[in-house]
Amino acid sequence: MSNIAIFASGSGSNAEQIIRYFSRDANHSVKCVLSNKADAYVLERAKNLSVPVMVFNRNTFYNTRQVLDVLNEAAIDVLVLAGFLWLVPDYLLITFPRRIINIHPALLPDFGGKGMYGMRVHEAVIREGRKKSGITIHLIDEEYDRGKILFQAECPVLPNDTPEDLASRIHQLEHRYYPETIKNYLQSL
Ligand code: GRF
Repeated sequence: MSNIAIFASGSGSNAEQIIRYFSRDANHSVKCVLSNKADAYVLERAKNLSVPVMVFNRNTFYNTRQVLDVLNEAAIDVLVLAGFLWLVPDYLLITFPRRIINIHPALLPDFGGKGMYGMRVHEAVIREGRKKSGITIHLIDEEYDRGKILFQAECPVLPNDTPEDLASRIHQLEHRYYPETIKNYLQSL
């Protein structure tokens, strides 16, 4: 039995898929969605699906225990990052060892690390003339995009692809595999 908190900074299409997927699961459930952006669309999605939300700013996140208090109150044991752009602070890494999962829209270890997020990833893949890209679902440790890989799936990069074309192909892979990879990992714990 796991209680999941999702962290997201943007649209939240992955968050929505995960919430819907686990709403049909008797053993695991999404208890809250947390965001660093007050106008992130993920907050609308969460509210529409009756999932409580919390918005925090940089000071709250890095210098106070407020986020931890919310997670403890909801008895959260797993954090899922779904398009969350801030570095996870040490107090969360320490509290949730091997319990923080992230998705990256490329085949790590390539195209990861600082500054590699959103459309920049797809632009770099196309610029380098790669023939394939994909998704990586991995655990988070002290360094961005460096934790143990749980799952990867590939897709082609087509000759005339724009970054937007590639992003949309990759989003489809994410929606298809992220929820079930989370579930498989939780069941292996
Ligand atoms: C996804 O492509 C994810 O891999 C990346 O940010 C994007 C978030 O998309 N880390 P959405 O907000 O879930 O639609």
